[in-house]
Amino acid sequence: MSYTPAIRTSNTLPRFPPSIIRPEQLARIRTPKDDEPNNNKPYETKYFTQILDHFNFYPQSYHTFQQRYLINHTYWGGANKNAPIFVYMGNEGDIEWFALNTGFMFETAPHFNALLVFIEHRFYGKSIPYGGDKEVAYKNASTQGYLSSTQALADYATLILDLKNNLTAPDSPVVVFGGSYGGITLIINGMVAVLAAWFRLKYPHVAMAALASSSPILYFGNLTSPFTFNNIVTQDFRGESESCYEVIKGSWTQIEETAMQKGGLEKLKSSFKICKNNSISADDIESWLSKAYIYTAMTDYPTPSNFLNPLPAYPVKQ
Ligand SMILES: *[C@@H]1O[C@H](CO)[C@@H](O)[C@H](O)[C@H]1NC(C)=O
Ligand SMILES: *[C@@H]1O[C@H](CO)[C@@H](O)[C@H](O)[C@H]1NC(C)=O
Ligand SMILES: *[C@@H]1O[C@H](CO)[C@@H](O)[C@H](O)[C@H]1NC(C)=O
Ligand SMILES: *[C@@H]1O[C@H](CO)[C@@H](O)[C@H](O)[C@H]1NC(C)=O
Repeated sequence: MSYTPAIRTSNTLPRFPPSIIRPEQLARIRTPKDDEPNNNKPYETKYFTQILDHFNFYPQSYHTFQQRYLINHTYWGGANKNAPIFVYMGNEGDIEWFALNTGFMFETAPHFNALLVFIEHRFYGKSIPYGGDKEVAYKNASTQGYLSSTQALADYATLILDLKNNLTAPDSPVVVFGGSYGGITLIINGMVAVLAAWFRLKYPHVAMAALASSSPILYFGNLTSPFTFNNIVTQDFRGESESCYEVIKGSWTQIEETAMQKGGLEKLKSSFKICKNNSISADDIESWLSKAYIYTAMTDYPTPSNFLNPLPAYPVKQ
């Protein structure tokens, strides 16, 4: 059966949002300072001195930076028992945000007596090279060139091996976890990388298994249809209700036609409760709506959650 996507981004090719994490969302999340006592965080915060460039021998490659990682020993069976180490591959954002939204690892750790480790991705959160100075780190191609998935994977391998060495746990199997770019997606140089799965492929001696959730492993230009993402979003809504699908699908033309009528934009403004002084177009409304549908589908979790936005359980059904 062929399929018309109900969700679209007006006038542009449908694409995965370049980054699901917007800086203003990160700013909203208040995480306690590392050195606050009784901070109620379910992990300890550590820093590891990491090499800036794993792949050449120029003098500047030996620069280092502080890479943050979070660790929870509560469930670990210990090195003597070769108990496993579960490692979360940090995404494009503050690692605490991901650690606090990855209940799956905390829930499974007791069953496997696993050590939990969450490693922050370079250039994000507190793991900023160039002395922690974001402005310098993101300044130009010479500095930003060190922000690559290849370097990030090498960071993770280096840190994991060093940690195992420190714990005298050479035989503890490592299982890596990630979602979206970090199993989870980031578009670097136009490429969608999938860290956990790639890590297992590239560093099979470091990780014995990888769980990559919502990972667009084959989502490269010309390999997968550019409509795939929106088709999946569409299926989510259509799976809940055929009429919901029909309504959304029909809404785009209605919005465009209304916008072209005299006084149409005013009518749209009042139906969508948009502030009177804001100037808008049909395009604006369509892009707000598609973003809402996309985020709802992306975080269609079985419990109430506040990952991208506060939402009830099964928001698509709602
Ligand atoms: C490890 O995580 C569990 C579950 O969230 C929590 O109860 C425990 O206090 C944590 N341990 C440490 C040392 O933070
Ligand atoms: C980036 O900035 C540094 C310091 O100003 C400069 O030395 C370097 O040449 C610049 N690199 C590029 C690619 O512009
Ligand atoms: C391992 O121990 C060394 C020496 O104490 C320390 O500098 C390093 O940061 C530790 N590695 C990790 C991954 O914590
Ligand atoms: C896809 O194929 C077209 C035509 O062969 C080419 O121009 C384009 O650069 C390709 N895009 C990617 C992302 O490889």
